[in-house]
Amino acid sequence: MEKRELLYEGKAKKVFKTDDENAYIVDYKDDATALNGLKKGTIHDKGIINNRVTNHLMKLLEKNGVPTHLIKELSDRETLVKKVTIVPLEVIVRNVAAGSLAKRLGLPEGTVLSKTVLEYCYKDDALGDPMVNEYHIMAMNFCTKEELDLIASYALKINEILTDYLKDVNISLIDFKLEFGKTADGTIVLADEISPDTCRFWDTVTHEKLDKDRFRRDMGGEEDAYKEILARLLGE
Ligand code: C5P
Repeated sequence: MEKRELLYEGKAKKVFKTDDENAYIVDYKDDATALNGLKKGTIHDKGIINNRVTNHLMKLLEKNGVPTHLIKELSDRETLVKKVTIVPLEVIVRNVAAGSLAKRLGLPEGTVLSKTVLEYCYKDDALGDPMVNEYHIMAMNFCTKEELDLIASYALKINEILTDYLKDVNISLIDFKLEFGKTADGTIVLADEISPDTCRFWDTVTHEKLDKDRFRRDMGGEEDAYKEILARLLGE
């Protein structure tokens, strides 16, 4: 597999074309941003950890019937993925109130929600990723109703699989963000990443935060938190 020109550079990843027109290489960086790009920094070896953790969890999801963009891990920071057109939505799944939901509804962080909450945000940095509902999504033609129903059912299934899996290593899955893409033949697959950058992971017993909130909130200890996630999930 030959790495060709840079297609896109995001906040945490670069995407390269390859000599296969149906595959891209994702290259994970150590750069960290928060507050829609206002806060910038680096978390040592974050790229390596997020690459490993994402692929580990995507393999678990594939095994349990959720199609993903993963083809294979190429190196510490690089993974070969299927070429997809990203559906421009951040799909957020919440089990426990935290972050923006806690703020919006005036709930103390850590309040267990009686029912899983699904939210959609329109992926647009300039607009600050505004929350949208099914009507907006249809009106903006981000995807079809059938595709959105499938995305929602995958998101809830992913929540069940991951919650169950993480329980065994004493991690509570508080909330997380997913992105989906469409392959050349129109199949909807899970894309992007599933990592401490995109999930809130709390230690089940101590409620210690083992995710990017440590960076977002200037708590310190983010490198150790990411390493702890890698150790609990992959034993590394
Ligand atoms: O900030 P908020 O509480 O809305 O975040 C909900 C979840 O989505 C968190 O797990 C956060 O890590 C993730 N998220 C993300 N990328 C964004 C916004 C939120 O990964 N741009």
